[in-house]
Amino acid sequence: MIKLLLLTALVARAAEAPSQFQKDATLFQAKCAKCHTVGRGDRVGPDLKGVSERREKAWIIGFITKTNEYLDNDHEAKELMARFNGVRMENTNLSEAQAQGVLNYINAASKGPVGPEEEAEPEVQDPASKLRTPDEGRGASWPGLALTLLMLAFAVAVWQAGFAVPAAVLLTVAAGAGYWSLGGRRYYRLLGDQQGYAPAQPIAYSHAQHAGKMKIDCLYCHYGATRSDVAGVPPLSVCMNCHGAVRKPTGASEPSAEIAKFISVWETRLSSAPQSIQWNKVHDLPDYAHFSHRVHVADNIKCQECHGPVQEMSVMRQASSLSMGWCIECHRKTKSDAPTHWKRSGGPLDCAACHW
Ligand code: HEC
Ligand code: HEC
Ligand code: HEC
Ligand code: HEC
Ligand code: HEC
Ligand code: HEC
Repeated sequence: MIKLLLLTALVARAAEAPSQFQKDATLFQAKCAKCHTVGRGDRVGPDLKGVSERREKAWIIGFITKTNEYLDNDHEAKELMARFNGVRMENTNLSEAQAQGVLNYINAASKGPVGPEEEAEPEVQDPASKLRTPDEGRGASWPGLALTLLMLAFAVAVWQAGFAVPAAVLLTVAAGAGYWSLGGRRYYRLLGDQQGYAPAQPIAYSHAQHAGKMKIDCLYCHYGATRSDVAGVPPLSVCMNCHGAVRKPTGASEPSAEIAKFISVWETRLSSAPQSIQWNKVHDLPDYAHFSHRVHVADNIKCQECHGPVQEMSVMRQASSLSMGWCIECHRKTKSDAPTHWKRSGGPLDCAACHW
């Protein structure tokens, strides 16, 4: 009897718990992937493909769990750091068991695909896939197109009935409706509505590359978002955590001119005339409306629900209208018949919550 119970419990656990391999893979993605790849070249740190063949296991585990100690005292670690332009690997705070798990993942991924039920590349869930991102008026409007076709057919009928002038007017209106439905509506907004605004920036920094391809967490750079009203744009020191070492795009032979631009600015920081990068502001509410990131982010609203698919943007743009109606619409939907992701504690509707 007890055996049977144990067995069912085990089966139930196996069914719901992700495999250990999945857990190790996820840990690697969360803690290491922003600096390392397995088989896709050096990033901030070395490509870890085949690391077990070039180093002792004890050394690797020691290096991962006691990084600072190794970088200060171990001859091989110091040599490696010199090769990586003196960039220190950050302390990852893993336990030995976790480090062993991550190493298992690295070893498996080094060999390529690892069997049908265990993918080499863990499924990293695209955070935007389940979210309702703002409607940016991209793509065609089907009702609008249907109306256009109807008008066209009507214009032809009127033409055939011998009324040339009304037919021409109808045609013109149909052409306008077609343009509007096929995306023209994106360019026409109420005065003061800045949706879609995407100013050029002094450095060609790309969210698609950093937050998308490299999967760097938004909060790594916009750490203000969980603590204060403003999310904040990161100072150059954050960029230099990586660009102290990364001077060119993967695979390129020449250093990147874009990276060189901000490194030259960075190098003035201790001089008598320090410079800074003047990023152009994209989002800007009027001063009489108050918005706080902290409360919204604490309520587990994803950045993408308000800012759109940032991880796909090579140039940052304002995805939502930021109008009062937009704020209120979501605050209303936090009540009763809302789509599930909006079923949270309600947002306020009184004027004084936002205007004070
Ligand atoms: C902030 C960037 C960064 C993060 C995060 C990071 N590393 Fe590193 N790693 C480096 C750098 C840079 C080096 C090269 C040594 C140095 O300069 O400190 C390195 C070296 C290594 C080495 C030695 C590789 C060799 O060729 O000998 C191993 C193993 C390693 N890292 C594993 C990990 C693991 C596992 C994680 C995640 C738990 C991780 N690293 C997270 C930057 C990072
Ligand atoms: C490597 C650092 C970095 C990461 C990671 C990053 N950002 Fe940014 N972000 C920046 C920089 C630099 C700017 C200013 C330049 C620009 O607008 O492109 C910026 C600008 C923005 C802006 C516009 C600010 C304004 O002026 O209104 C938003 C919104 C934003 N980021 C959201 C996100 C979201 C959401 C993520 C995660 C999916 C993310 N960022 C990840 C560095 C980063
Ligand atoms: C976690 C590491 C990391 C951080 C933090 C980081 N970058 Fe990068 N960045 C990279 C890597 C790696 C590449 C090369 C990517 C590639 O080519 O695949 C890169 C590429 C770039 C490029 C493109 C260079 C080119 O010519 O194609 C620019 C510009 C850039 N980064 C600017 C910034 C700025 C500005 C910041 C700070 C807001 C920043 N990066 C923060 C790792 C980082
Ligand atoms: C509920 C909607 C909402 C969510 C969720 C949200 N933002 Fe914002 N964000 C805004 C609004 C509105 C502004 C304009 C604020 C202003 O001008 O005062 C803004 C501005 C910004 C800015 C530029 C100005 C500033 O405040 O620093 C950055 C950067 C930014 N957001 C990043 C993020 C990141 C990263 C996340 C996720 C961690 C996030 N936002 C989540 C609505 C949101
Ligand atoms: C995607 C949905 C969404 C959007 C868009 C949104 N909010 Fe909210 N907001 C919420 C939710 C949910 C809460 C309740 C948070 C809580 O109390 O946990 C909230 C709470 C608030 C609060 C009360 C904070 C507090 O201190 O209790 C203010 C003020 C606020 N929002 C302002 C705004 C403004 C201004 C905008 C537009 C620029 C906006 N919100 C856009 C969902 C949203
Ligand atoms: C959830 C936040 C929120 C609440 C609640 C709210 N507002 Fe607003 N309100 C805004 C934002 C954000 C703007 C700025 C919109 C823009 O720039 O288009 C705004 C703009 C305005 C404007 C200026 C419009 C213009 O075109 O210049 C007035 C007037 C106003 N609100 C009145 C009110 C009144 C009255 C109430 C209560 C019935 C109220 N608001 C409740 C967020 C809010």
